[in-house]
Amino acid sequence: MIGVLVSGNGSNLQALLDAALPVSAVASNRMGAYALVRARDAGVSTATFSLDCHADRAERDLVMATWLEEHGVELVVLAGYMHLLTTPFLQRFPDRVINIHPSLLPAFPGARAIDDALAAGVETTGVSVHYVDEGLDSGPLIAQEHVPVEPRATLVERIHSVEHRLLPQVVRDLCPAAR
Ligand code: GAR
Repeated sequence: MIGVLVSGNGSNLQALLDAALPVSAVASNRMGAYALVRARDAGVSTATFSLDCHADRAERDLVMATWLEEHGVELVVLAGYMHLLTTPFLQRFPDRVINIHPSLLPAFPGARAIDDALAAGVETTGVSVHYVDEGLDSGPLIAQEHVPVEPRATLVERIHSVEHRLLPQVVRDLCPAAR
């Protein structure tokens, strides 16, 4: 089973759901994340683990890890999840947490990767999927796809469409139950 962590719109979550991958649980750090609506519409269990309700990030992450395990989660997918994960969480899912990011990592980590690539004037950017460690968009790469920056007007749309194809493909490869 797959657990997905989200913070925002959830278009990558939607791509996993549309690909009929076995998503059993969707967790967010933000109550208002639209991704939670997408999950509920698909009949998937949801929960919000806000930092406000816990002593610190490590405690929040442990409670979240337990909830995911209770939902049979074996692979955790970060799909627009905008918090770093702590060591206690990562130890509960060793080599089983992956992230999608809209740049050719290690270039342009962080929350504004597409804008940062445009500002840097690169000709090519792309999409990366990687295993997650404690760093910001760091960890061993699993897959990357290049996307030309021009035409700039459609860059965001083109990156998202690569993400929505690449993420389900990688998840299917990593998740025996989904093949
Ligand atoms: C995606 O572009 C994802 O790659 C990016 O957030 C967006 C979430 O969109 N993630 C990061 O920037 C991680 N550093 P979505 O909520 O529509 O899937």
